[in-house]
Amino acid sequence: MSEIEPKHTRHPGRQSGTIRGARAAPPQLSARECPIEAMYEEHFIQRQLCADMELLAATTLSRPELARRLLVNLCRDLPRHLEDEEHGLFPRLRARALPEDELEKTLTRLAREHEIAAAAYALLVPALVRMADGNLPAPEECDALRRLASSERRHLIVENAILLPLARLRLSDADKVALMAEMCARRARPPRMDAACARALARIAPTPLGEPQ
Ligand SMILES: [Fe+2]
Ligand SMILES: [Fe+2]
Repeated sequence: MSEIEPKHTRHPGRQSGTIRGARAAPPQLSARECPIEAMYEEHFIQRQLCADMELLAATTLSRPELARRLLVNLCRDLPRHLEDEEHGLFPRLRARALPEDELEKTLTRLAREHEIAAAAYALLVPALVRMADGNLPAPEECDALRRLASSERRHLIVENAILLPLARLRLSDADKVALMAEMCARRARPPRMDAACARALARIAPTPLGEPQ
């Protein structure tokens, strides 16, 4: 019998993240949980952030709380998630996949999308800092927010529909235990971030983060 507990059986309260209007916090991971289910949960939160980006792009009122939440995700949470996938999930899945899975082209696409998104998000950080200070986004920043929300949603569809189901099928219990241990260790360390992100988070730190609106 598997040592790994499905996430939803241990944390039924987290299902509240599906309630309309609720804002889920980043999951607190534990070593006995399934890393694939944890990734689904992080994708759920990322979809909420896509909605936040579209709200920010459409707003005619200052929405500093949305900008702060996006900054925390882009600077702290998303880079960890990308590392989980690129350094943990992708290589393990590559080692287990069968030729008929045709995995390589999917991994190549996803890794390329990570690069493009990371570059676009880095450009957006100064604009989000201004929005966190209460300013409205400029028209070109609205365009960037909409484009990023749209491309991120497409990325999540591929990961949820192809990557994670395949991981459920192919990874062994030992793979999952090792992957989750890496994910927990990554979150136990201070996040790695560039100077712009460090400055942005230091600036918004006095305000409570991730609070429901
Ligand atoms: Fe992902
Ligand atoms: Fe990804």
